Amino acid sequence: MSTSEVAVIPVRIGDASMELEYKLRTRQASLGVIGLGYVGLPLALTFSRAGYAVTGLDVDSKRVAALSAGHSYITDVSDSDIAHALKERRLIPTTDMDQIAGLDVVTICVPTPLRKTKEPDLSYIMAAIDAITQRLRRGQLIVLESTTYPGTTEELVLPKLQETGLKVGKDFFLAFSPERVDPGNQNYSTQKIPKVVGGTTPRCSELAALLYGECVDQVHVVSSTRVAEMVKLLENTFRSVNIALVNEIALMCSHTGIDVWEVIQAAATKPFGFMPFYPGPGLGGHCIPIDPIYLLWKARADGFPLRFIDLADEINSSMPRTMTIRAMELLNQQGIAFKGARVHILGVSYKRDISDTRESPALEIMKLSLTAGAIVSYSDPFVPALTLQGRDFHSLPVAAEVLRSCDLAIIVTDHSQFDYECIVNHAPLVFDTRNATNGLQAENVVRG
Ligand SMILES: NC(=O)c1ccc[n+]([C@@H]2O[C@H](COP(=O)([O-])OP(=O)(O)OC[C@H]3O[C@@H](n4cnc5c(N)ncnc54)[C@H](O)[C@@H]3O)[C@@H](O)[C@H]2O)c1
Repeated sequence: MSTSEVAVIPVRIGDASMELEYKLRTRQASLGVIGLGYVGLPLALTFSRAGYAVTGLDVDSKRVAALSAGHSYITDVSDSDIAHALKERRLIPTTDMDQIAGLDVVTICVPTPLRKTKEPDLSYIMAAIDAITQRLRRGQLIVLESTTYPGTTEELVLPKLQETGLKVGKDFFLAFSPERVDPGNQNYSTQKIPKVVGGTTPRCSELAALLYGECVDQVHVVSSTRVAEMVKLLENTFRSVNIALVNEIALMCSHTGIDVWEVIQAAATKPFGFMPFYPGPGLGGHCIPIDPIYLLWKARADGFPLRFIDLADEINSSMPRTMTIRAMELLNQQGIAFKGARVHILGVSYKRDISDTRESPALEIMKLSLTAGAIVSYSDPFVPALTLQGRDFHSLPVAAEVLRSCDLAIIVTDHSQFDYECIVNHAPLVFDTRNATNGLQAENVVRG
């Protein structure tokens, strides 16, 4: 439906949902995104590209200052994207939470980490909800996008918002819509990934579906916020369990001298019933290692054991240690003690072509190697510097002299910018945990 067609829809004055619907259809709605990180910033720009004015709210004043100056800190978002949105007045970055009062829609994209005890840490969500509750007014749509366990929107967020005396479904509207962005994936931007939406009431679902329907290619409405919350956890648990399975199969293959990569390649020729997952040095990022634990926590709280998640977590978490032990064995076979050996890590972000190092297995491998007495260095075009165990490290270029001066190079993250031929030609020994050197014939390479 075009904007001119919808501009004539009848609006009953005083009907909060009709007024919001009208504003959404005519692009007069002012949208807000709380949390401008890997999820929130691309989302804000997707809204802005659809023609809405978007206020981006973040507590991190450095991030807000960078955006206001036209600088992006997210690999998938370019400076020119930011500059364009700023120029059109379709992106207004701010730390001022009072702006919430003037918004018609507020989406929440704040972190949902784990506490040290492996319990969900919902403090960021609750801080954002507090900021909204203080300013909630009739006609606002609130959408939680942060990944969380089923029941969060209904049991924690809704009661807090209703403390204002406003009624959901009548005065304000509430929905959950899981964010499925895949940082670094050039094929699927926020706009192209179908959006799942579940509202607290049918009208909440309709309004949230309308919002996303105006901005992304496809919207799938589910019957409740709980279902929408569970969708995201199923997706990421599915990945975690399958990666654990293939990691365990890879260890068995390595033990028996079978090339697991060749096995997966052949199995993937089956056009049905098999989906390839690939082994690696362990899980990283803010999603796959964490989200299943949210589900596990909820299941335990409800007295229901989820055995697959525990097992997958055990296998995946042990991978960095397993890889470090293999690196020790490889050097040992060369007559080189790991203590004092020069180990060069290639790629420290948790996955290819992005700068995010959260939960990265590379950091764990570096820590374990340092503890075992190795002299550790690294190269990563996306991560210029990092601090580990109180020591500062700086990325070295992937150059012949750097590679020649190490005893072992470990490919932990297979960035497409790496010159694998140079790596294979100059490092005396290469341990490739990602099959990145596939196709390069070299006797000094061991694929793990
Ligand atoms: N990173 C991913 O690939 C990905 C993918 C899908 C879903 N998710 C989920 O999306 C959510 C956000 O993840 P992310 O990776 O974008 O996190 P992030 O750390 O990159 O960004 C979060 C932002 O929120 C800001 N923030 C924290 N508390 C705030 C508050 N009270 N008010 C305003 N701003 C606040 C932080 O300063 C930061 O800029 C998480 O629940 C995560 O599980 C992440």
